[in-house]
Amino acid sequence: MRERMKIVSIVGARPQFIKCAPLSKELRKSHEEVIVHTGQHYDYEMSKVFFDELEIPKPDYNLNAGSGAQGQQTAKILAATEEVLLKEKPQMVMVFGDTNSTVAGALAAAKLLIPIAHVEAGLRSYDRTMPEEVNRVLTDHISNLLFVPTEGAVEGLCREGIRKGVHRVGDVMVDSLSTVKKAALGRSTVLQKLGIERRGYFAMTMHRASNTDDPAKLSRLFRAVERSGIPVVFPIHPRTGKVLKDSGLLKEVPPNIKIIEPLGYLDMIALMASARGILTDSGGIQKEAFILGTRCITLRENTEWTETLTEGRNRLVGLDEKKIERSLSLPALTAGPRSQPFGRAGTSRRIAAVLDRWDERGRP
Ligand code: UD1
Repeated sequence: MRERMKIVSIVGARPQFIKCAPLSKELRKSHEEVIVHTGQHYDYEMSKVFFDELEIPKPDYNLNAGSGAQGQQTAKILAATEEVLLKEKPQMVMVFGDTNSTVAGALAAAKLLIPIAHVEAGLRSYDRTMPEEVNRVLTDHISNLLFVPTEGAVEGLCREGIRKGVHRVGDVMVDSLSTVKKAALGRSTVLQKLGIERRGYFAMTMHRASNTDDPAKLSRLFRAVERSGIPVVFPIHPRTGKVLKDSGLLKEVPPNIKIIEPLGYLDMIALMASARGILTDSGGIQKEAFILGTRCITLRENTEWTETLTEGRNRLVGLDEKKIERSLSLPALTAGPRSQPFGRAGTSRRIAAVLDRWDERGRP
């Protein structure tokens, strides 16, 4: 067992709070953790609610980076993170997933020669038009420890020449989900509040710039949903809400789409678990749908979570009106998946065990 390390965990966007929650608990058993919130997400429903519900310790720093163009947001986070790292002098920096906070945090650490651990490493959509894909590739190539969820991701890294420091530990979101699922199903009153019945609706999320920045695409989605007639609950990401308002598309929202504020984690899990299906362009939600056994219709042409495409559990439909409409007529899935490609709960424990054994001298 190595000596206690100071680890700086860098989070900033909604999915990172969810990934950090179970890991933070494990890390703190044998190490000192300093949490840096970059401020990429700042609205209560996008940030604080997750800290409260998942009992994540209050961040030690908030960099207040806020929104901005890709380069500007990334640069702000990079510069502010560097200052924190110079002050804290940690032995390790931990980054999560694929956001601008991930790559900026990793780059700040790399320039200061601080070892980097990347949680949810190795994923690829092979679509460089996505800012997340650029973030994934760059972060993986400068990380020392790569915590990988799936076998496919290990193989992908191998093809890019990354073999050292790769640990297939499973998916940390399995831990987050298993911790709250019972409470979500037992305590959440979201279905009653919305007046919807189990399996009688689809849940929908959409926030990728490639989908939201073209109002014509949103308009196609609305028409397909309208024709299907099925009730759709749409917790709306602020980016999408802004586009709808600015483009005047709010008027085109059909009566069977119920737009609501972004939900906290427990309500979102309850909403997804009881839905007939989920329409989404999010990566994390495709995975959560798979684990919960809910059908997923993905509003993208590709996915980095290819394992979810088995047994017809997830379909890539892009923004094709006909395909969306057909998918909305599919019944709910009746059985769970035959395999669990994302591993069993315990990923956080496995990551902590690797850190406990980690020897800096042998680092890649
Ligand atoms: C980011 C991540 C994406 C992740 C998503 C989860 C990048 C490149 N993208 O996308 O991988 O799936 O978070 O939500 O890092 N906004 C608010 N309030 C907030 C947060 C955002 O109003 O609390 C609005 C702003 O108008 C902002 C826009 O949302 O311009 C986009 O936010 P940003 O953090 O740049 O990217 P996301 O689309 O959230």
